[in-house]
Amino acid sequence: MTNRTYELDRAHVFHSWVAQASMNPMVIESAEGSYVVDDQGQRYLDFSSQLVFTNIGHQHPRVVKAIQDQAARLCTIAPQHANAARSEAAALVAELAPEGMDRVFFTNGGADAVEHAVRMARLHTGRRKVLSRYRSYHGGTQTAVNLTGDPRRWPNDYGADGVVHFFGPFLYRTEFHATTEAEECERALTHLEHTIQMEGPDTIAAIILETIPGTAGIMPPPPGYLEGVRALCDRYGIVWIADEVMAGFGRTGTWFALDLYDATPDLITFAKGVTSGYVPLGGVIISEPIYETFADRPYPGGLTYSGHPLACAAAVATIETMKDERIVENAATLGETVFAPGLAELAERHPCVGEVRGVGAFWALDLVADRETREPLAPYGGTSPAMNEIVAACKKHGLLPFVNYHRLHVVPALNITADEARAGLAVLDEALSVGDAHAAR
Ligand SMILES: Cc1ncc(COP(=O)(O)O)c(C=O)c1O
Repeated sequence: MTNRTYELDRAHVFHSWVAQASMNPMVIESAEGSYVVDDQGQRYLDFSSQLVFTNIGHQHPRVVKAIQDQAARLCTIAPQHANAARSEAAALVAELAPEGMDRVFFTNGGADAVEHAVRMARLHTGRRKVLSRYRSYHGGTQTAVNLTGDPRRWPNDYGADGVVHFFGPFLYRTEFHATTEAEECERALTHLEHTIQMEGPDTIAAIILETIPGTAGIMPPPPGYLEGVRALCDRYGIVWIADEVMAGFGRTGTWFALDLYDATPDLITFAKGVTSGYVPLGGVIISEPIYETFADRPYPGGLTYSGHPLACAAAVATIETMKDERIVENAATLGETVFAPGLAELAERHPCVGEVRGVGAFWALDLVADRETREPLAPYGGTSPAMNEIVAACKKHGLLPFVNYHRLHVVPALNITADEARAGLAVLDEALSVGDAHAAR
């Protein structure tokens, strides 16, 4: 049966982001909590949450049941009708969002949430250009991939999507010759303001930022940066879109990463953790002024499955489960008591660890060939024998890691136990020793 799964996959499934002929997918037979099991019966601790979305772990019985119940009651209904699952999900999301952001447009995932947020900003302002930072990911559709500030944009970029990139704050690899977070913050804001002025403020509809960039490196912005972005947007009449697709729904130990800062955007995009990925769902949370733009004027956009009942039932159950089981609080505690000290200790011991960054259950190890020069352990946009060996060592010891170029991300389910988290760190300890062999001492 399993061979059949693999063979049919290789014969017929066209996979994302990879060269098709050389890929070799792991066949997953089952999953529960923080573990997945492959076709050889090997059990892996999932330190990736897949693509950082199984925030409440695999197969949580309460969410599975809610999906089953909804399927029995009403599998689907078109978006123009009101439906209990959709109404409840929208109310729960709005309740978690910052004050004054009460409306939710549902999409099928993160990229289409970004597409619609940009469309709303363009129609609201009557302007076209959108600014986004290098070292970011916003999705695989046309506008979203062009907003993306990582190598996945390059082959898709025809320079025709009205996007301008700027550098955001990132002290470890500073573009601003800064030596402190305060300097990095101030200089990054000056750079952003100059970019706005040089591009022509009247041409700029929106600035989109992942509140904490995820796949691009988990770089929490320094205190004051997002507040500064808010001030610039107010000064120049620009809409601020906060992309919370990866950072939202508990990942940072708060419901939204935004809750760690003192600034409110005009639009928020979300997806992934809202249903723990059990059924695809995303959306845009809309502030009152932007809602008003479309109060008496039709919004020119929609999706057949906007607010799909199965997805919305999964969202309601996920959010209620996260509240009842204090899963967001667990992520915060794990961050403080297990990941921050445990990863700092690994960094001390392993020369291939250049920097550890993160919060909650959202951490990156920036791996380097040389701590002095900070040369990455794999080139930007590429891989290396060292990184391949580290990944192989993780898997050999039963850990499923999340890897991007020269970084290892620690992004498990938010309800992983402290013991499981420590067991995962012990495997990383072994795997990093393999990396040390490639690093200067
Ligand atoms: C920050 C961010 N925005 C948008 C997306 C795109 O979401 P999706 O893959 O659901 O379209 C992702 C996906 O990883 C993401 O991390």
